[in-house]
Amino acid sequence: MQNFTIYNPVKVHFGSGVISDLGKVLKEYGRRILLVYGGGSIHRNGVYGKVMEQLSGLGCSVWEYRGIKPNPVVEDVDAAAELGRQHEVDLVLAVGGGSVIDSAKVIALAIPYGGPAWDLMSRKVKPRSAVPVIAVLTLAATGTEMNPLAVVQNNELGTKGSIMSPHIYPAHSFLDPGFTTSVPANYTAYGVADLMAHVLEAWFGKGESPLPDRFVLSILQEAMEVGPLLLKDLENYDLRARVMYASTMALNGTCIHGRAHGDWGVHAIGHVLSLLYDVPHGASLTIVYPAWLKLMKEQIPERIRELMFGLFRNEHIDDGIYRLEHFFKRMGCPVTLKEVNIGTDKHQEILQSMMHNKVSGLTYPLTETDYQELLKLMT
Ligand code: NZQ
Ligand code: ZN
Repeated sequence: MQNFTIYNPVKVHFGSGVISDLGKVLKEYGRRILLVYGGGSIHRNGVYGKVMEQLSGLGCSVWEYRGIKPNPVVEDVDAAAELGRQHEVDLVLAVGGGSVIDSAKVIALAIPYGGPAWDLMSRKVKPRSAVPVIAVLTLAATGTEMNPLAVVQNNELGTKGSIMSPHIYPAHSFLDPGFTTSVPANYTAYGVADLMAHVLEAWFGKGESPLPDRFVLSILQEAMEVGPLLLKDLENYDLRARVMYASTMALNGTCIHGRAHGDWGVHAIGHVLSLLYDVPHGASLTIVYPAWLKLMKEQIPERIRELMFGLFRNEHIDDGIYRLEHFFKRMGCPVTLKEVNIGTDKHQEILQSMMHNKVSGLTYPLTETDYQELLKLMT
């Protein structure tokens, strides 16, 4: 086991009605608020009203930036940061899923920096500070509510990049599972897939750490048990709560302690599919993960066997991969490129982008030949 430091300053408020503490919390951070949200789901499901109720009576000024897209883009981040700077906001209040909260994190860094957000995303400039981010989560998937990561896309440069900074842990995250009951079946399934992919990336990380291995298996088992039940009963609070808790724990550091890092090779490829064809994040992962396991089964059979044994009490690798793939299918997630209307004519374009966006530091580095093989396995 490697040495590690545990630091996670996010105050998580979890459960039904926790939003009633938002007003009290906001008062501690100031009265000039930049409210950031997506395409309008929070208007349709009533979350906007509940947030506004908390703001009323505080005597605060609120500037709204609406329209953060799924697979968020840096143009929105820059525009929202400019709005925040103009009005000298004290904090960014993010109400939405991963795309909104990630954008809010980068906005919070860009406000004091004063220049283009991509300078920070591209590591040209090291972030020195951020205004506080307070998050109200409406979709269980990414874990961004309790981690120091943000992912934003730059279409001009053809890249979906991530930034990790201790300045962007949300100060508070409000997790009311009831706020997620309106998430449609497809995004609910993608969220379950995403949290599973996060712990799989940890499982295939560098270094051995037995307790996190057990956490990974527990989270996978929880997701695989609850996911199908939830899809049959989307408004079930208890099932929503279980998925929300699992997704938060999947990427808040717990599953990585004692390892150097996760693998993240599958995520990097998933990001290429989102970048080029706007494939939802979770759906990109259900296409790539089974293919990656098939590719890696010769190279790391033992590690895959341990996973499949832990999950299915069956040491047969092919059977395990089949079961995982079948699970994603049962959840209505795509497992091939064809299912998201990406034909073989796009392979060259995808390959180029995979090479362009190749990340260093994977536990299992991938070569161009590997990428070509993966494309065949995803077809
Ligand atoms: O935009 P609105 O109208 O809010 O609609 C959203 C969006 O269309 C909708 N939605 C959210 N909450 C809802 C709802 N619809 C009905 N009821 C609700 N309660 O769902 C759609 C998808 O939202 P989005 O925020 O894009 O989904 P998700 O939470 O999966 O976030 C995906 C983004 O997070 C990044 C991904 O790359 C992607 O850009 N990730 C962030 C990570 C992190 N910061 O730690 C790690 C992940 O691996 C991931 O890369
Ligand atoms: Zn993910």
